[in-house]
Amino acid sequence: MGTGDSPGILAELTDTLARARRILVLTGAGISAESGIPTFREAGTGFWAQYNPLELATPEAFDRDPRLVWSWYQWRRGLIRAADPNPGHQALAAMQALGLPVTLVTQNVDGLHQRAGFEGVVEFHGNIFRNRCRTCGNVGRAGDPAAEMPPRCPACDSLMGPGVVWFGEAIPADALRAADAAADECDVFLSVGTSALVAPASSLADRARAGGAAIAEINPASTDLTDRADYALAGPAGTLLPALVSGLRSRDPGAG
Ligand code: OAD
Repeated sequence: MGTGDSPGILAELTDTLARARRILVLTGAGISAESGIPTFREAGTGFWAQYNPLELATPEAFDRDPRLVWSWYQWRRGLIRAADPNPGHQALAAMQALGLPVTLVTQNVDGLHQRAGFEGVVEFHGNIFRNRCRTCGNVGRAGDPAAEMPPRCPACDSLMGPGVVWFGEAIPADALRAADAAADECDVFLSVGTSALVAPASSLADRARAGGAAIAEINPASTDLTDRADYALAGPAGTLLPALVSGLRSRDPGAG
């Protein structure tokens, strides 16, 4: 156990994953960085380094200036439509296809895990390609990519915002239930590409640890979780996740 990206830690984590009865993978914006989608908090390039989240990602901001908030989400939808899943997304889908017992909880709203073929993704912060009415809860599809104003809710006539979780909003109940259960039951918790700063996703690692899980992290930078991780792999998800998968593929099936 330890930190760095040495082949030794990769091999140890591969063995631990191969033996695990339940694995919880939590992903954040970093896994989509190699698809060309900016993260949130990285200095210079992150969305929140350039835009104020209080003006774009709260219910109050939407009430105040729906056109501004809507246009920012329409722009992000365009970025994501133009992007493709990368080898990191594909490696997680490959782990599932290999039969590993993985629950995948993502804070990302981009749908790239699904496009890579992962089935049953738990969307902790919603999905940008849906719309959601904050007044009555009605959900619909994103609709016209060129629309400059949000559509009216067919049920209650309020403006419908993007189907994502904003600051100050609750996590969708079934996603929270599924993530909490997976944290309680897992024996390996793997955090990929998240700064591990935003609650309640940030508390899943502690919950998993309290239940006896080993903690692993893949991130080129150090986070709040790094010092507490049993396996800290410092590097990009698009390289390290495929390396784990090739280790799992070449592993002697009788060795676990
Ligand atoms: P952050 O921007 O906070 O963190 C992204 C993390 O990805 C950082 O720790 C980077 O070091 C790491 N990273 C960058 N490139 C990477 C790569 N190639 N491979 C692996 N890791 C890489 O994004 P999140 O942790 O996802 O919420 O942020 C959590 C939430 O805060 C988001 O869901 C969003 C945001 O505000 C809402 O909008 C509600």
